[in-house]
Amino acid sequence: MNLIKFETMHFPILRSWLTSEREVVQWGGPYLTYPLTDDQLEQMIIEGTTAPPKRLSWTAVDANEVPVGHVQLALDWINGVARIGRVMVAPAMRGQGLAKPLLEAALEQAFSHPGIERTELNVYSWNTAAIRTYNKVGFLHEGVRRSSAKVGDERWDTAVMSMLRLEWEAGLHR
Ligand SMILES: CC(C)(COP(=O)(O)OP(=O)(O)OC[C@H]1O[C@@H](n2cnc3c(N)ncnc32)[C@H](O)[C@@H]1OP(=O)(O)O)[C@@H](O)C(=O)NCCC(=O)NCCS
Repeated sequence: MNLIKFETMHFPILRSWLTSEREVVQWGGPYLTYPLTDDQLEQMIIEGTTAPPKRLSWTAVDANEVPVGHVQLALDWINGVARIGRVMVAPAMRGQGLAKPLLEAALEQAFSHPGIERTELNVYSWNTAAIRTYNKVGFLHEGVRRSSAKVGDERWDTAVMSMLRLEWEAGLHR
């Protein structure tokens, strides 16, 4: 699994992986709308062009350069915090263990910046496949923001998980 820069040519494939408002919110939170517009996707790329970047976005590709996933980092350089988000394994590729290497690649990117001491992520509490992956990779569960997202007529709880640099480094040598 390799991460390549997310570019305009990847918009159609990413859109094809997200087929409802519910899926968009599950993936990217309640501020994104379905269907994803070019403006919303371009904004992700633009946020990667500031110095330092506010956000880094990647398409994950397999050994044959076929897109199999997506992941982003939202970067808070003042506090040294990278928020991993918009994690996605292509629907046809799920259930094959690709989520772990995807997360590990995102962690490697985050901690390649010496100023980053903490990675964190938000995940809806019912998203078992995602939470199992995050636990397996070594994220710690910090707490739950109850009833924090409004999706149609539903309200979802958001779990907050994190991994610190020392924990990531310890995992590498285990
Ligand atoms: C979350 C996601 C990235 C996981 O990718 P994946 O390829 O299915 O991951 P894996 O095959 O490695 O499976 C992860 C774990 O979840 C379990 N799992 C998979 N689908 C599941 C399901 N529907 N219900 C319960 N557990 C499930 C697997 O058994 C595995 O756990 P295990 O290793 O303990 O057996 C993928 O489902 C996805 O892209 N979902 C849509 C977007 C999303 O929710 N992103 C996360 C936002 S925070």
